[in-house]
Parts: sequence; structure tokens; C-alpha cells
Amino acid sequence: MPDRTERRLSASVLVIGTGGSGLRAAIELAERGVDVLVLGKRPRLDAHTTLAAGGINAALGTMDPQDSWQQHAADTIKESYLLADPRTVEIVTQGAAAGIHDLERYGMAFAREDDGRISQRFFGAHTYRRTAFAGDYTGLEIQRALVRRATELNIRILDSVYVTRLLVRDNTVFGAYGFDLGDGTRAVVHADAVILATGGHTRIWRRTSSRRDENTGDSFRLAVLAGARLRDPELVQFHPSGILEPENAAGTLVSEAARGEGGILRNAVGERFMERYDPERMELSTRDRVSLAEYTEIMAGRGTANGGVWLDVSHLPRETIMRRLPRVYQMMLEIQMLDITAGPIEIAPTAHYSMGGVWVRPEDHSTDVAGLYAVGEAASGLHGANRLGGNSLSELLVYGRIVGAAAAAYSAGLDAQHRSRDAVDQARAEVDDLLAADGHENVRALQRAVRDTMTAYAGVVRDDPGLRAGLAELDAIEDRMRDVGIHPDIAGFQDLAHAFDLKSSALAARATLAAALERRETRGCHNRSDYPDLDPDLRVNLVWSPATGVVHEEIPPVPAEIADLMTEVSSVGKLVE
Ligand code: FUM
Repeated sequence: MPDRTERRLSASVLVIGTGGSGLRAAIELAERGVDVLVLGKRPRLDAHTTLAAGGINAALGTMDPQDSWQQHAADTIKESYLLADPRTVEIVTQGAAAGIHDLERYGMAFAREDDGRISQRFFGAHTYRRTAFAGDYTGLEIQRALVRRATELNIRILDSVYVTRLLVRDNTVFGAYGFDLGDGTRAVVHADAVILATGGHTRIWRRTSSRRDENTGDSFRLAVLAGARLRDPELVQFHPSGILEPENAAGTLVSEAARGEGGILRNAVGERFMERYDPERMELSTRDRVSLAEYTEIMAGRGTANGGVWLDVSHLPRETIMRRLPRVYQMMLEIQMLDITAGPIEIAPTAHYSMGGVWVRPEDHSTDVAGLYAVGEAASGLHGANRLGGNSLSELLVYGRIVGAAAAAYSAGLDAQHRSRDAVDQARAEVDDLLAADGHENVRALQRAVRDTMTAYAGVVRDDPGLRAGLAELDAIEDRMRDVGIHPDIAGFQDLAHAFDLKSSALAARATLAAALERRETRGCHNRSDYPDLDPDLRVNLVWSPATGVVHEEIPPVPAEIADLMTEVSSVGKLVE
């Protein structure tokens, strides 16, 4: 029997993930007096939420008083290409203002007008200015505010514990298993309910706005192994502005705020190319259109030598850049020694956000597994085939609160809980087996292979032969995964974590490729060169599990008061060449 130390922990509700959605859920639980434990694989003040830059949406009407939550809902559904769940959209857009007020209550400093109103800026495809912000450090400020509130409430947070499995008996969750990233100490955690707040899967592309080891598809694997399903894994937002160099930072985000403040896009021959794709909205068009426009320019030979286009803010007043885009300014100086007040930034599309995720019910984000919830980027339903920038921060606040309340009620309503020693033994054995693995394959190299495959075959534009080739490559990668060697060292158990990240990424890649193959149309972020038109019969969500494969799920009708505010969804401007 291998040497191991194992801690036993318990809580009424376990939250997995220390980003904004996890912390907001934990705060709700603690404020209701519920015993909550938060586990995470990244330091809480460095969770992925800190990277969210440009802002958070709510129809506050501080700049444009005619705005309303109904118009926000209409914009969201319209730009989802009708794949968003209308009830989810209503819940988020109606609750977003309260989410902002919660943040003010936690001491968040929003940018304000001289008279004290919260400032709101334009983000692409919003009818009105409704994106509140803190410079281009909005996510960082939100995360700080949430950590502050969690600290005031004495919430237990262990942010060096990697969760490897959810513990389930008879389709009911009863906790989770994991290990400490520093010393490898195992943890068996018993809980009445579990909230998955473990992000998305955009790190499975080579150029991504996620950093190493985050958004590796953990939510997908944990949920699916527990018995839950995934919805629309193929719908991944490629943000138009990821930097190209250096290679190890490729994909790092230049906030949409740069375009929101007046940034201009040009190709390598100096043309303001958005005129060809969306002459009305130009740079403030939707992300899917701008990304596809850039892709088309680059493929047509009008890109830069590095395969990008130019984003220029140098014509803006220096003061505007310093006050409204401080992060982009600092980042470009640090990473490329580029002064954006003087010259343009070379950019290309970058995998940015998982619009699909774990299948959840709109009212409370419960899943197919009793007691298991998903929230934030881990969940699905709000964004459909194109997410409006700024909506995910609203979503995490609104559903963080709702899911916390739902898990609290579920826990309070339990008569008894049955555990399973077999489930714990299985989780334990999985870690034991990996630690004993001494094969020749390197986990990091296999992660790179997954990213190369997804980049080659499931990027901005896809087709049938490519997606099938991607699945074949994935089969080969999974064969190689049987021969990995895992070598924790004095520095810690990162290598073991990478092995689990790899398992998650492979599962996420398979779900994505399978659903992308099934979606034989072009809609929003999902461009099929072999099916260039939108197919009205495919106005469905694609739900995937290993047992069922891809299944079509009907989407409820859009309520009339929202539908009346939507202008026609058009595919004009897609796949121009
Ligand atoms: O471009 C950005 O600042 C990103 C915002 C978002 O994805 O919501």
C-alpha cells in the first residue's frame, strides 16, 4: 500500500473554485449562516477572474437612461444567435443591477462620472452604454472585493487543493477527493452539496487568453464523471484581440475596452477592414464577426508577417489611455516594450471563453446529479453562440447568489446522506495509480499535442474532414496518455496536477470536436466552411455525454416583450470570402 497522508474535511456545502463565481456563492452561503468550504488550485487573489478586464454589464441607465433590463436581455439573446436560454437571460439581466450593488456593498471602486454616477462604456453589440468598469482592471477589482468580503466572513478557503473527483452515490453527490499541490496530502471532503466553479476549457487551444494551468476543462471532467452532461461545448468565443508575441504569452488579451474607447483595426495594407464586414458597427461589431473578419483578412494574405492585424489606439488622447486603458498600456510595455500611445498593437483571435459548459437548470443551476451545481464559466445557458463582452461578470454575481441560496436550501432539506466507500476508494486509487506511473510520455508534451490538435482543427473556422482528423489525433493522444510518467518533486505535486489537467483537456476536446461535427451550420462563433449558412433547424442546444454522444435539446421560445426589442439576426458579413 503506498504511503499517503489523508485529511478528512467536511462542510455543509463545498465550493470548488476560488474565482468570482465560487467566492460569490460562498459569500451567499456564509451570509446565510451555512458552513462552507472553498477549495481551489490557484491562489485566491490570482484566480482567472482577475484577468477580466473591460467591464460588467447592467442596465443601470447611468449614461443612457432609456436602457432597460429587457433591452439588455434582447441584445443578449439576439447576439447569442438565438441559442441562449431565454429564462437564464432574463434572470441575469434582471438581477445584474443588484449584483453591482452587492459589489458596492463589498467596497468595490467603480469608475464614476464627476457627479458620482457609475460610468458605463460601450462594449460591442450593446444597444446602450451599460458596461460598468474600473479602468481595465474590472475583474481584478471584483476579485479583491469578493476576497475582502470572504475574509470578513471568515470563510474557509484552501487554495492549494486540487480536486480530482467528485464523490457520488446513487446519482447524489456527497463530496470530493483531492490532494494538496504543495505536499501531496490527500483530502476526502464530505459535503451535503457541491458547487462547481472551476471555469471553462479555453486552455485547450494554443493561442488563448487563459494562463498556463487554468481553464483546462476541469469542470467538464468532474461533472461528466459524476454523471452530469455538457451543453454546447463547441461554442467557444474567440476574442478578436490576443497578442501574438512572445510565443509563451501568445493570446494574452488586449481588452475590448481598447475598441470601446475608439481603437481602430487595420490590416497589413492599411485598410480599415471592418468596413467590409460590418460597416455600421465597425470595430464595435460583435466578437464573432470581428474575429472572423480578422481571420479572413489574414487568410487572404492581408495580415502581418506574423499572421495578425493591427489594433491602434495611438490617436486617442494620452490621458484617455492612461485612465481608461491602464492595464493594456502597462502590459504592452512590460511584454513587448511597446508604447501604445505611439504605435499599434499586433493582434489575432484568441480562445477566450467557454460559452457552453455543464448542463444546468436555469432557475437554480442544479445539474443532473442531486446536490451538484455549476456556476460561472463552468455552467451554460446564457451566451449561446456569441457572448456579449461584460456579461460573464454579471452572470457570476447573479448566479453566484442564486446557486449559493439553492445549495443552502438543498443542504437544509436533507434528511440523511449516504456515502460510498467504493467511490472514495476509486478516487484514491486513481491518484495512487498516477503517482506510480513511470512511463515515457511527458504530460506537458501531451498537453501541447491537445492544443495543437484543437488549434489545427477546431479554431475560428472548422470543417468536417478537419474535425474528424482532430478526433483521430485525439485517439492517438489518449493512447499515449496510457504511458505517462508522473514525477512530483521537492517543489511540489504540480506534475500530478498537470496529469489531471491533461485528462480534463482530452475529455473537453472530445466533447468539443463531437459537438462541432454535429453542428452542421455557421452560427455565431461556430464557422463551418462546409456549411456556411445558418440552419434554422439547428436552433437547438447540443448536449453531450460519453454515454449518449450528442443529443439535440429544444430551446424555449423568447417571451414577446423581449422578442419585440430584438432586431433581425442576420448572417450577412459572415464568411465574406
Ligand atoms: O475584452 C475584455 O475586456 C473582455 C471582457 C469580457 O470578456 O467580458
